[in-house]
Parts: sequence; structure tokens; C-alpha cells
Amino acid sequence: MKKRTTSGKRPRRIDGATSHRAISARGRNATPPLVDRKEITLRVNGNTHVATVDVRTTLVDFIREQVGLTGTHVGCEHGVCGACTILLDREPVRSCLLFAVQADGAEISTVESLGTPEHLHPVQEAFRDHHGLQCGFCTPGFLMTTVALLHDRPTLSEAEIRSALSGNLCRCTGYQGIVEAVLDAAQRLRALTHS
Ligand code: FES
Ligand code: FES
Repeated sequence: MKKRTTSGKRPRRIDGATSHRAISARGRNATPPLVDRKEITLRVNGNTHVATVDVRTTLVDFIREQVGLTGTHVGCEHGVCGACTILLDREPVRSCLLFAVQADGAEISTVESLGTPEHLHPVQEAFRDHHGLQCGFCTPGFLMTTVALLHDRPTLSEAEIRSALSGNLCRCTGYQGIVEAVLDAAQRLRALTHS
């Protein structure tokens, strides 16, 4: 026996041209198409960059490959080593953990913004003078972390520096030179502020 609706009418067939209402309802509930590329605008070291990126591009890859600034290093790619640390709106962040599209509209500073070989930033001078680096792979991350740290807290004890830098890993120096460099950099920056 044919099944009947409660109204006693035969069930209406829902397909094709006979059901505009069904189609528009389907359209309303449909999953929107995935966006795989997006235009973003970032300021990197004072220069504006407009680019269309794959939404899966990490910020560090964008900085290195599309902006062409390779001073920011990629180590673990898991947010563990700190080698990829940059400043995003003045806050230190791990650029391997962010997508470039998440930084749309942000102000970014990389290690290239600090100084030049002829005119090093005081933090760079202190790292050089205290042998705060050996192979240098971790150094951009340490420098950017230190710059942000000393901007917020110009005076720190050795223990506070060790704690603040505990998220940056170095496999060469043994850390003592790095800590001494940060203590000295703090002194240099305070002297500059008061001169
Ligand atoms: Fe980003 Fe290691 S590469 S934290
Ligand atoms: Fe080589 Fe830090 S200087 S990893």
C-alpha cells in the first residue's frame, strides 16, 4: 500500500525545477566554498606589503619567502625553540605558530629592523661583546625577545632574565654569555635613555 501523508495527500516530490523553495533552502544551509587565498596588508619593518597568500602560509614563511627577509629563522616549527620570534604590534610572538592572514593589518618587526653591520643595535652590540652567540641560529629570536623584554622592563635581575628567556633555546652557547649580554644591554639602553 502507498504511504500517505497525514493530510491524506501524496508526498510531493522534491527535485529539479518543481521545487524552487527546496533549492533556496538548500542554498541557505549550504557550506560556503572554502577560501584558499586571501589578500593581506602588513607593515614589515616600516614598509607596507600587500600580497595574496595561501591561507595556510605561516607568518614566518611569508616573511622569509614573500617579503624576502631571511633573518628570522625556522627551527622546530612547533612553537618550542623561539628561533622564529618577531614582534607583532610590539609583542614578541612565534611566527611559526601564526598564519600570515592572522597578521593582516599588523605592524611587524624582524631582526633586520634592529641595526646594520656598521651600526648595531645596543642589544646586538652586547651579544657580540659577551659572546652571546656561536652559530647564530637562535640569535634573531633571542634578540627580538630581549628587545621586547627590555622595552617593558628596563631593569631585571639575572634570575628574571633567565626566566624571561626560558622560551628561547640555544644549542651552542650554554646561556651564560647570553644572560650577561642581556644584563649589559639593559645597562646600555638605560644609559641611552638618560643621556
Ligand atoms: Fe618557531 Fe621554533 S621555529 S618556535
Ligand atoms: Fe647556536 Fe644558539 S648560537 S643555537
